[in-house]
Amino acid sequence: MSGLKIATIGGGSSYTPELVEGFIRRYEELPVRELWLVDIPAGREKLEIVGALAKRMVEKAGVPIEIHLTLDRRAALAGADFVTTQFRVGGLEARAKDERIPLKYGVIGQETNGPGGLFKGLRTIPVILEICREMEELCPDAWLVNFTNPAGMVTEAVLRYSSIRKVVGLCNVPIGMRMGVAKMLGVEPDRVAIDFAGLNHMVYGLDVYLDGKRITQELIDRLCSEEESGITMRNIVDMGWEKDFLKALGVLPCPYHRYYYQTRTMLEHELEAARTEGTRAEVVQKVEAELFDMYKDPNLAIKPPQLEKRGGAYYSDAACSLIASIYNDKRDIQPVNTRNNGAIASIPDESAVEINCVITKDGPKPIAIGDLPVAVRGLVQQIKSFERVAAEAAVTGDYRTAVLAMTINPLVTSDTIAKQIVDEMMEAHREHLPQFFRTVS
Ligand code: G6P
Repeated sequence: MSGLKIATIGGGSSYTPELVEGFIRRYEELPVRELWLVDIPAGREKLEIVGALAKRMVEKAGVPIEIHLTLDRRAALAGADFVTTQFRVGGLEARAKDERIPLKYGVIGQETNGPGGLFKGLRTIPVILEICREMEELCPDAWLVNFTNPAGMVTEAVLRYSSIRKVVGLCNVPIGMRMGVAKMLGVEPDRVAIDFAGLNHMVYGLDVYLDGKRITQELIDRLCSEEESGITMRNIVDMGWEKDFLKALGVLPCPYHRYYYQTRTMLEHELEAARTEGTRAEVVQKVEAELFDMYKDPNLAIKPPQLEKRGGAYYSDAACSLIASIYNDKRDIQPVNTRNNGAIASIPDESAVEINCVITKDGPKPIAIGDLPVAVRGLVQQIKSFERVAAEAAVTGDYRTAVLAMTINPLVTSDTIAKQIVDEMMEAHREHLPQFFRTVS
């Protein structure tokens, strides 16, 4: 049978219409025969709503993609060519706890950074490794395209603790940065190119080009004169950068770097938001409710523009472009999370990095950059150490390793506070952290 089978885990996500739109648009070059949307029983209602919309979308577009909805992950995985993952263990309620609890201790509460990122990793990694084991059995030749956050830590864990080698971690931050630069320059995004290197949510634009001409310094100068950088994601507050700092840095930081270089101001923003409109997860819960109400409309057969209110907007471009380039051996350049293989000298070969790669039928081939500038190298290495220790804690269920990961995270201010946050978050997320609560029988 010709055509591809794609399995999407966390298929009931509000982001699914993005993916469906991406497959529809690329149908000519990427003939998807079956798209299996799979979820857990708690996600059944969302799966049914979003699945019905997906069916209307393909019907309206007139493409012969079969949409399958299932709670049976094994059936979805069997014989799949690509497995995409976009699930959230514990849902947005768990994310709200990740964001609120650290604030009580005067520490940033964020989905993928600091304590929130650690606990999201602890909840997610065992599940992704279970999926990897099922893939070994049911679709050993498939590519795993992971969107599940924290995407860098998850990719690291797959590379270190599973036998799956065909794994790519994806994020929309690089696309968002490129679109932000294009908007600032008033040009179409395809005229802009950026040399990305670093880690997920810790990626730098080492050089920026317009029509192939390097404009890094001009762009940084321009950024320094703006009140708002214009280069941000929906979920991250935008403010200007300190001029002297940015000019000396000489590379383009990503929106998530604000948590590290503007920690105190970001914390103030978070505390204010928590007191007023709610944390990001609480805001997103409302956006989701509106989106699902819209998705229920039997007359809706396209991706509604309101989805752009989410931080992950346009991720289908990243996912579908990647899949299309692997399938067609396009050899174009895309920034993805992959095994470093020496591309960044100061990061271990076997670790995951986010970097521009040539995308071939054998997967991404990272483009070596030598090394990162010394001013950013230390932070990147520190975050990599954090990701590795966090992944180890997730796999072993060892409490002290979790305390270690929390303490070495640069956003956490002291060992005592780290331990207190671990204890409170461990208890709050108990039902999703079985590896830490095993009873000896
Ligand atoms: C960014 C990140 C994603 C993250 C999203 C959160 O774009 O790249 O990794 O999931 O924002 O957006 P949300 O709307 O859920 O706050």
